[in-house]
Amino acid sequence: MLITRPCREQDLALLRTHIPTPGQPDRHGTRFERQQHGHSTFLIAWSDDIPTGTGQILWNGCAAPEVIQQFPDCPELNGLDVWPPERRSQGIGTALIAVAEDLARERGYHQIGLGVNGGNLRAAALYLRLGYQETGCHYLDRYHYTDSDSTLHDIADPARFLVKNLQSRIS
Ligand SMILES: CC(C)(COP(=O)(O)OP(=O)(O)OC[C@H]1O[C@@H](n2cnc3c(N)ncnc32)[C@H](O)[C@@H]1OP(=O)(O)O)[C@@H](O)C(=O)NCCC(=O)NCCS
Repeated sequence: MLITRPCREQDLALLRTHIPTPGQPDRHGTRFERQQHGHSTFLIAWSDDIPTGTGQILWNGCAAPEVIQQFPDCPELNGLDVWPPERRSQGIGTALIAVAEDLARERGYHQIGLGVNGGNLRAAALYLRLGYQETGCHYLDRYHYTDSDSTLHDIADPARFLVKNLQSRIS
């Protein structure tokens, strides 16, 4: 059975066990703290009591200045990840996205956005199929990770921002 709901503090141990975050020590804890401060909702998908997917809604929108300038009142769903890879293409990502959209509707938002990196064609195909639309907004998706030599890498991946109108639900 698949259940998708916001993270609770007691979920963190299982998350750390089942969904690795290489190069980003305690990413799950950081996301939970962000949720506790009211900036986000950290969603977890559970398959038979095992966490198999994560994503977070950033209520204040995308961190990239190129995006927030154009979409100042548009929460962003980011960090979508289904793990392990054998669990992909079974509807978990779609379930996470549907719950995120419902939560945004409940808060009165008329749209929600997400970023997709240039080479991630399969993810883009999924989002477009679910009703997300091209906006023409291209930006650099900046993040960092630490490799096994403890070297910090700052990354800036070209990405584009897609937006879905939440007034008409597409199931
Ligand atoms: C993208 C992702 C979250 C989608 O979740 P999912 O559970 O695989 O998605 P669903 O099962 O609901 O839908 C599957 C569809 O998503 C698309 N898809 C996107 N990325 C995919 C991937 N890496 N593997 C498989 N399908 C992917 C395909 O169109 C697929 O359609 P198909 O089943 O006909 O092949 C997940 O595949 C994943 O974690 N990918 C790696 C990390 C990533 O790319 N995150 C997104 C960053 S924008």
